[in-house]
Order: sequence, then structure tokens, then C-alpha cells
Amino acid sequence: MKISILGAGNMGGAIFNHLYQRREFELALIDPNIDKIWKSLGKSSKLETPLLFRDLLQYTQNLKQQKTILVLAIKPKQLSPLHEEIKVSKNLSFDNFVIVSVVAGISLSTLRKIFKTKNIIRAMPNTPVTVGQGMTGLYFPKNISSKNKDNVLKIFELLGKTLIVNSEKKLHSITALSGSGPAYFFNFYEALLSTGKELGLSKKEILLLVKQTAIGATAMFCEAKEPINILRENVTSKGGTTETALETLNKYEFTEGVLQAVLNAKERSINLGLELNYEIQENTQK
Ligand SMILES: NC(=O)c1ccc[n+]([C@@H]2O[C@H](COP(=O)([O-])OP(=O)(O)OC[C@H]3O[C@@H](n4cnc5c(N)ncnc54)[C@H](OP(=O)(O)O)[C@@H]3O)[C@@H](O)[C@H]2O)c1
Repeated sequence: MKISILGAGNMGGAIFNHLYQRREFELALIDPNIDKIWKSLGKSSKLETPLLFRDLLQYTQNLKQQKTILVLAIKPKQLSPLHEEIKVSKNLSFDNFVIVSVVAGISLSTLRKIFKTKNIIRAMPNTPVTVGQGMTGLYFPKNISSKNKDNVLKIFELLGKTLIVNSEKKLHSITALSGSGPAYFFNFYEALLSTGKELGLSKKEILLLVKQTAIGATAMFCEAKEPINILRENVTSKGGTTETALETLNKYEFTEGVLQAVLNAKERSINLGLELNYEIQENTQK
């Protein structure tokens, strides 16, 4: 399978690293800082350099007319300059490509205007893809063949778990829950870590306690047959320490705060999407 990645930053670089380790794909990376990035990825310079390209034009000039999956992993604001690049290279056609966009908020309708093809899939991964524990939401429009669907699924299954949704709009919910989700957990862990001084524990001690508790609680959550409220109730004896702690969280409206945070993130995703798509579609008409 031929897979090319346009944009070798955090997300594109992480996807590349996992695919590269499998040694079963024909990979290409396209990024203006490709030499620096290649060094920072710690790759051997003995590798065939035609794999690496500075821009789309250089890449397409070297491309044989074979079916290729192109993972689009640039920032939303970088799409307008990319559109300019495409417009300049008039002979460039994306007919042989299956484009997988991980660009948050940019709709299929906008992407179709830029690439002039309907062979486009949207994916919403999260940062744990870097450690092979990602969660990726995917939307496949009806025109995508089952072979292309299987190939794209295979990529993201190597990076963690996948969820296929039946409507593009649901990607906003995925963005709010699993896309931003790692930051919610990090924020909670940060709060726990910050209690060290008051508890009279060293940084090293508290780090061990918080990390292992996070791993243990997550393992129980993932493996237990009981629902999560039972797991919580099992740790909470009447009049005990956990009950006191949970009552305090309740006093600060912890659950309502989390719910509102996720709903606000979804609304922000919708609004950002509207702004970005409007801006890019305006530019594509020029
Ligand atoms: N990070 C996440 O958690 C996450 C989660 C889900 C989805 N995403 C999506 O993933 C996309 C990438 O995010 P990121 O955090 O990986 O961004 P990033 O680290 O800034 O990576 C983007 C890379 O693309 C390069 N680039 C820009 N224009 C290009 C072009 N025309 N051709 C080739 N390469 C180009 C950039 O180079 P320069 O720096 O020189 O511009 C940069 O190296 C975003 O759209 C984001 O919405 C990210």
C-alpha cells in the first residue's frame, strides 16, 4: 500500500512513525522542513531520500501514476496556501488519490473544492496515537469503496482504536470527547500532582502514586464487567475518606463542570469549523 503524508508535524509525524515501523508500506513524507524533521525523527540518512519531499509540486513530479493514500496533516490555516500551490501546478490531478484529512473542522465540501475529487475521508485522531493508543473517529462518505475504506481503517487501527460514524457532523462530538479528551485527563492529573506539598510528599513520590493510580483505575474501567458507577461505589465506604473527597468534588460541581466543558468544546468545534470553512471557501472562489 502506498501512503503519503502531507505535513510531518505532531500528528503527521506520529502517523508516519507507526507506519514506518511496520515496514509494509511504501511511504512518502512531504513537509517544507523535511530535512530538519527527518533528523529529529532520528532516522538513518541511509534511507532512500526520494521518500522525502519539500512540497506538493516536488512530490507529484516524482510520483508514478499509482493509487496512493494521501494523509493530509497540516493546520487548517495552511490549507489556503496549499490551495494556491495546487492552482499553480495546473496539471496536478488527485484522481488517483484517496485523501484522508485529519485537519480539524474542515468539511468534506471545502476539501472537495480544494482537491477537486470526491475521494476524501475525514479522520479525527487524538495525541495518544504517538504511543499507539490513539482513538480515531472516521467518517467515510458513501462514494468510498470498501477496499479504500479497509485500507484507511488499517492505518488508524495500527495507531489505536477506531470508531466509524455515519454522519460528518458527529466528528464535532468526537473532537470534543476524544480529540480534546487527553487534555481533560492531563488537567485532572495535574490537579492531583499539585497536592504534593500539602500532603507532605515529594514530587517523585506523588508522581508514582498518581501515575500508577491512573493506570490502575483505567485498567479496571477497561476490564471490569460492572458499570463505572459500581466501580466508584465499591471504593466509597459510608463515612470514609473517598466519600468525603467525592462530596467535596460535588460541592464544586465537578460532574456538571465536565459535562459543560465537553458541550462547550463541541460548540467551539462547530463555530470554528464554520469560520474556517467560510474563509477557505471564499479563497477558493478567487
Ligand atoms: N495534534 C492533535 O492532537 C490533533 C488531533 C487531531 C487532529 N489534528 C489535526 O492535525 C493537523 C496537524 O496538526 P499538528 O499538531 O500535527 O500540526 P503541526 O505540528 O503544525 O504540523 C503541520 C506540519 O505541516 C507542515 N506544512 C504546512 N504547510 C504544508 C504544505 N503545504 N505542504 C507540506 N507540509 C506543510 C508544517 O510546516 P510549517 O511548520 O513549516 O508550517 C508542519 O510541519 C491539524 O489540522 C489538526 O487539526 C491534530
